[in-house]
Amino acid sequence: MFEKEIYISRRKRLLESVKEGVILLLGNSEASCNYPDNQYQFRQDSSFLYFFGLDKPDLAAVIDADTGREVIFGNDVDIDDIIWMGPQPLVADQAAEVGVRETAPLAKLADCLKEAKAKGRTIHFLPPYRNHNKMLLHRMLGIPLDGLKEAASVALIKAVVALRLVKEPCEIVEIDEACNLGYTMHVTAMKMMRLGMVEQEIVGVMEGVCHSGGVMTSFPTILSQHGETLHNHCHDAVLTEGRLCVIDAGVEIASHYCSDNTRTLPTGGKFTQKQKDIYNIVLAANDYAREASFPGVTYREVHLGASKIIVQGLKNLGLVRGDVDEMVAAGVQGLFMPHGLGHNMGLDVHDMEDLGENYVGYDPDQTRAKQLGLGSLRMARKLVPGHVITDEPGIYFIPALIEKWKSEGHNAQFVNFDKLESYYDFGGIRLEDDLLITAQGARILGVKRIPITVEEIENTMYTD
Ligand code: GLY
Ligand code: MN
Repeated sequence: MFEKEIYISRRKRLLESVKEGVILLLGNSEASCNYPDNQYQFRQDSSFLYFFGLDKPDLAAVIDADTGREVIFGNDVDIDDIIWMGPQPLVADQAAEVGVRETAPLAKLADCLKEAKAKGRTIHFLPPYRNHNKMLLHRMLGIPLDGLKEAASVALIKAVVALRLVKEPCEIVEIDEACNLGYTMHVTAMKMMRLGMVEQEIVGVMEGVCHSGGVMTSFPTILSQHGETLHNHCHDAVLTEGRLCVIDAGVEIASHYCSDNTRTLPTGGKFTQKQKDIYNIVLAANDYAREASFPGVTYREVHLGASKIIVQGLKNLGLVRGDVDEMVAAGVQGLFMPHGLGHNMGLDVHDMEDLGENYVGYDPDQTRAKQLGLGSLRMARKLVPGHVITDEPGIYFIPALIEKWKSEGHNAQFVNFDKLESYYDFGGIRLEDDLLITAQGARILGVKRIPITVEEIENTMYTD
């Protein structure tokens, strides 16, 4: 938790944007896994954490935007809870730690909202994503369950996004720390990988590193020789010679700030020439994206610049043909990189996507493209110092997608479908760094960049 002044200042700035009505911020509850008392690891809501810092279940907060009155709702534990959970701090003491003077039992929350509603006041809440909170809002506010997303407050969403998008120095310290642990996690995988291992053996050790130094992974680890499947969570294959293994993994440290990195490793420790040719295109796109990221540039422009590098590289290999600008305009790169260049990162690995991807990643004057790849760009905004974003270009050979384009004749004048057939068993390559936008440009978060060049990777692998 940060010092209380940080939370007080964040809430003060929130009220500079949301000037009237009642702001309701719900914390998360425990969620059951396979029977009621067997619960998933507790994860607090990130916006609640951002404004109130309290990392316990079943808390809610109300801020009266007209008067500035703040109340945290929650129940003190009773003796039954103490028997199972040990002594717990009083809600009032927890609230005092983040500069909130008033507390009340959770049961009073409904009365508080009822009173505000009766007076015709606006009740601002964020789009709920957990069923428990959906039920609470439905019961307390009388809004149909399937209407909650639309009823969420756009004013509150925009105010929260504006604050959380630009990271404070204390947040950068945490993200650097998460990235340092992410470094160890990835280098551990590089060193230990051996032919004949099952992918899951590496996942287990990597996640052990993460759990030892942090609290959890920031998302389910992706580690697969089928890197062409973008989010492949299946880890049951034996590592075999000549394959590429995509490892996309991140950590969440105790403060809940995240890291998210991807490296692609040759299973036997050495890249083939064919693999190197594709790898170095992706690396060039990754380096370009960092070097092109400056305040004032949009990340959409950077995505398109990285796309040009990818298309030019594939043209050099004879996999596509034609004018590079024309190919990028036609969306040829979407066949090879059907995802966006990156996303915001912070307390969530895809920061604030619960609030709506377009509110988070798009400036009001930007509209989301429909094209494959560009349409999946999660962060398109004009960059400003304090943005924390991922830089994660990739090239994938997805046989089903290539076959689809081929049968439809889509971009047939540009794509060398015949030559692509020899890449159907190639897999995919993604290389992901986490960047902080500064006044001077972009810096890679964490003390050291995870080995990334062909030489660095080959010199790190098989050294355990
Ligand atoms: N690292 C997973 C993702 O960015 O989607
Ligand atoms: Mn990512």
